[in-house]
Amino acid sequence: MNKARKFGRTTSISEAEVAQRVDALLAKMSLAEKVGQLNQVGGAEFAPGPRAEDQIRAGGAGSVLWLNDTKKFNELQKIAVEESPSGIPLLFALDVIHGYHTIFPVPLAMAASWDPSVPEKSQTVAAREARAAGLHWTFGPMIDICRDARWGRIVEGAGEDPYLGAAMAAAQVRGFQGDDLADPERVLACAKHFAGYGYSDAGRDYDPVFLSETQLRNTVLPPFKAAVDAGVATFMSAYMDLNDVPASGNRWLMRQVLREEWGFEGFVVSDAFAVGNMVIQGHAKDRRDAALRGLKAGLNMDMSSYTYTENAADLVAKGDLSEAEVEELVRPILALKLRMGLFERPYADEGLLEQVLARPDHREVSRWAAQRSMVLLKNEGGLLPLQKDIQKVAVIGPLADNKSATEGSWMVFGHQPAAVTVLAGVRAKLPNAEVTYAPGPEIRRDIPSWFESMMAGYSPKPPETPEEADAAFQAAVETARAADQVIMVLGETDLMSGEAASRASLDLPGRQEELLQAVAALGKPVVLVLLNGRPLSVNWAAGHIPAILEAWEPGSEGGNAVADILFGDAVPGGKLPVGFPRKGSHAPLYYARNTTHSPEGSPMYNPRYWDGLPTPLYPFGHGLSYTTFEFSNLKVSMPQVKLGGSMTVSVDVTNTGKVPGDEVAQLYIHQRWGADTRPMRELKGFERLTLQPGETKTVTFELGPAELGYWSTNASQWTQDAAAFDLWVGADSLATLQAEFEVVG
Ligand code: NOJ
Repeated sequence: MNKARKFGRTTSISEAEVAQRVDALLAKMSLAEKVGQLNQVGGAEFAPGPRAEDQIRAGGAGSVLWLNDTKKFNELQKIAVEESPSGIPLLFALDVIHGYHTIFPVPLAMAASWDPSVPEKSQTVAAREARAAGLHWTFGPMIDICRDARWGRIVEGAGEDPYLGAAMAAAQVRGFQGDDLADPERVLACAKHFAGYGYSDAGRDYDPVFLSETQLRNTVLPPFKAAVDAGVATFMSAYMDLNDVPASGNRWLMRQVLREEWGFEGFVVSDAFAVGNMVIQGHAKDRRDAALRGLKAGLNMDMSSYTYTENAADLVAKGDLSEAEVEELVRPILALKLRMGLFERPYADEGLLEQVLARPDHREVSRWAAQRSMVLLKNEGGLLPLQKDIQKVAVIGPLADNKSATEGSWMVFGHQPAAVTVLAGVRAKLPNAEVTYAPGPEIRRDIPSWFESMMAGYSPKPPETPEEADAAFQAAVETARAADQVIMVLGETDLMSGEAASRASLDLPGRQEELLQAVAALGKPVVLVLLNGRPLSVNWAAGHIPAILEAWEPGSEGGNAVADILFGDAVPGGKLPVGFPRKGSHAPLYYARNTTHSPEGSPMYNPRYWDGLPTPLYPFGHGLSYTTFEFSNLKVSMPQVKLGGSMTVSVDVTNTGKVPGDEVAQLYIHQRWGADTRPMRELKGFERLTLQPGETKTVTFELGPAELGYWSTNASQWTQDAAAFDLWVGADSLATLQAEFEVVG
């Protein structure tokens, strides 16, 4: 067996065999069939275009998406294999973003674990379930760096930091793809959205993005590079204009950076309808021109705009495109189908799915992942963990018993939310207590989401009247009044973040804060559990509620995991992968900014706004535990390191409290001068540790050219400067334990 590294650690089929079989296939395929491989057919009702069956039978389809039906997959595959001219099997693709049936915490939450094994194990299960259903390919991981919490899709990524984002990207690729693409429990991964989508103007979804090459290379691209290095099989181009060029027609991204510089050998699919939409964007003259631009830019597969199948023959006939150029784009698609073993095993086993979905270990991984993803934002006076012998607990809030908000955004087609809610989790944890519940007034988007129309069995309810809302408000206050302990579950519903779910404010929507204030005024102990897919500016809560747990959208076992943490059966250890701004208008807000011309804190030029602090409410990397930790004994292996050389940094972390717990040791650096100005702090290492009371562990980080170099505007290239550096190690991005070193020429 050939042990190639590409697309995983092993491959069951040799490079030579792949190449030879691709050649043989191309030799017998017509031009129309070759172009067909570049076409992804929409299997859902909302997708326009000719009937899927007809396209497939004619050899006009390489892949099908938006279908989630094992039997149907086999029917379509049979047409492809037995009735199409060259019998090339289809790839079935779907968005399996954080679980197929067993739902895991949303990607932003998984990043908050600061533990790459969380996304890796979760996506391993997601892949197993999806593959059992007959899917071959997921449109994940989504690895867009985002520093503007107004953008709804921040929920799908790993937050604001390229270093953390790169680690999470690679982990998800390993989870989806495993070591060998022929593994029948894995799916192809897709790194998206290439590139810059997280930087849309003011967080408005799909709006144009303007980013310098410096920002792209230092901040946006590192997770994509990490995905390539981890062997990701496919990429997806983004929707928006990047510096006035739509990402789907962007040669620089797809040819120069992705292929020439990074050596990517998989294929790129557009985002949905994005090739044809280059006409709407004002880039392409017409659909023919759009196809030409996509093909020339190196975009292999057209997701359902059918511009390629409509126009490629004419483009070749008129000499605008050569057949060799088409073949170059087809090759990696055929190669991946061969590597997956689809020619030998094109069909799904229709009896398998039920068996796989019944595996109890999948729910266990989900509960574990949710526990590890939660972030304890505040715990004044050690209110948490709560005692299990309390008699009367009120669980209050519109999300307390909301299954879809618990599972979070991005469900696969047909999935019925089946989460354990926080209410159910607390009831299961306290079988002998009286656990009461009141939702309070409903929350809803001012403008409904288009995705609601796609949800199984969804029928819109008329909005609550003001009288109904008042009654619900009063009922919630009375329920709280009768209890000894109140657990408020507030935040955003699943459709308040995600695609087409940006918002201008980051406040708790609806009357939630008012309800929180009314309940807090009762004088009972109140714990706030947040369910949300983006940072929220919970200023009042931060000032007045003693304990706040950020539970995100925690997945199928979310309510159990929340109860585990609230009642001390699990100890929180997650950390924020993105800072929480005090206001939506503070976005973009991120810790790795450059220093201004004036010293930090100088009264002459500060404050930066006159109407409030611009600092985050909770900083990047923040998160508490039920125990305490101390960092000490920070050492650098050498005071000076040569350009291109490496050094190590070590630190002792001690659990100084009374219970076992996890701490994430975080290493930040700052280069004091150089060819370009460098950020005040940049994360360059992290490790999540479990420590027993009194236990000390030494963590060692390596700093080499990869960590100390950067893309320089002045030098127009990757650069490493001889300069002095500060470094800090600690529990968040405000860490104070500091050391220095120098890079010398
Ligand atoms: C549009 C979204 O932007 C993308 O993330 C998704 O994968 C595709 N649609 C396919 O559903």
